[in-house]
Amino acid sequence: MGAFKDKDTYNVAVVGATGAVGEELRKILEERQFPVDTLRLLASERSAGQRLDFHGRQVLVEVLDDDSFEDIDIALFSAGGSVSARYAPAAVDEGAVVIDNTSCFRMEDDVPLVVPEVNPEKIAEHVQRGIIANPNCSTIQMVVALKPLYDAAGISRIVVSTYQSVSGAGRQAMEELGRQTAALFNSRDVECEKFPHQIAFNCIPHIDTFLPGGHTKEELKMIQETRKILDDPDIRISATAVRVPVFCSHSESINVETRTKLTAGDVRALLREAPGVLLQDDPQANEYPLATQAAGEDATYVGRVREDDSVDNGIALWVVADNLRKGAALNAVQIAEILIRDYH
Ligand code: A2P
Repeated sequence: MGAFKDKDTYNVAVVGATGAVGEELRKILEERQFPVDTLRLLASERSAGQRLDFHGRQVLVEVLDDDSFEDIDIALFSAGGSVSARYAPAAVDEGAVVIDNTSCFRMEDDVPLVVPEVNPEKIAEHVQRGIIANPNCSTIQMVVALKPLYDAAGISRIVVSTYQSVSGAGRQAMEELGRQTAALFNSRDVECEKFPHQIAFNCIPHIDTFLPGGHTKEELKMIQETRKILDDPDIRISATAVRVPVFCSHSESINVETRTKLTAGDVRALLREAPGVLLQDDPQANEYPLATQAAGEDATYVGRVREDDSVDNGIALWVVADNLRKGAALNAVQIAEILIRDYH
């Protein structure tokens, strides 16, 4: 490791470059002027040979293999857990730092799980394995919104229900929602491939696989990852993850119990100052976060802030963010920016 020391520009690989997150990674590296020397776009043989635009140049998509990481400084992985398990070690062996968007390494003790607005100091721990994990999309937006409350008053319990867009399940899942919607408008039967049931005009309380006890893996990820990122194993968390027929942005209803009392006014004041948060909370003017407005944006939007009198110290929030950007690609690029700024 340390291959990228003393450089001004970096060789970057995007694994899963043709996917929904891969496309955002390319866009965000360009938008934020990340100092890229060579960009290597990697995918499966299905899309090898395609050319994708980067700063006005057409970059060839190559097949991922063990030799893909020669001279790579930073490898951004977003091609599924099994691809990360198989190829992230190969990238590290070549001297790259891996920023992994899958759940493959997130809960490993020697892999930092990082949200730059919440625990950027953990990036230092990348030296242990050469891998930094990007949390689950639903976890990221929740901890960005809750961190200021946590710092001000502590958190004893969270109850969260998610309304997650289909883009979280990848490009083919987005196409499935489009196809099913068109089929229903034309009185044709719907076909289900990516989801276990019709997703058009429906809500499916099932994301990732079911575990013994009845939670889904997605729900368990939110519970475990939130505790790891906030570095507080004592927070009690109840999560229900639901897929909804929205193309982009995840929405979350969050009820939080703080350890000491915060008023709704206190919470609004904290959120106004919070990094990465945009408070959008004027219900009288019909102003609250919406998935359609958050799509394509970088902020985590928070609104519907109110005191929840059903418990002591209860606060209710509505939190929305673009799951492909802050929930995935943007968070990864922000980590890479800190990596080259502070560990250069
Ligand atoms: P490909 O387009 O060649 O299938 P999404 O999450 O939107 O479905 O995208 C998944 C991304 O991961 C795509 O870029 C896909 O490439 C890539 N991918 C999936 N499986 C592999 C694999 N075995 N090797 C390399 N890339 C893969």
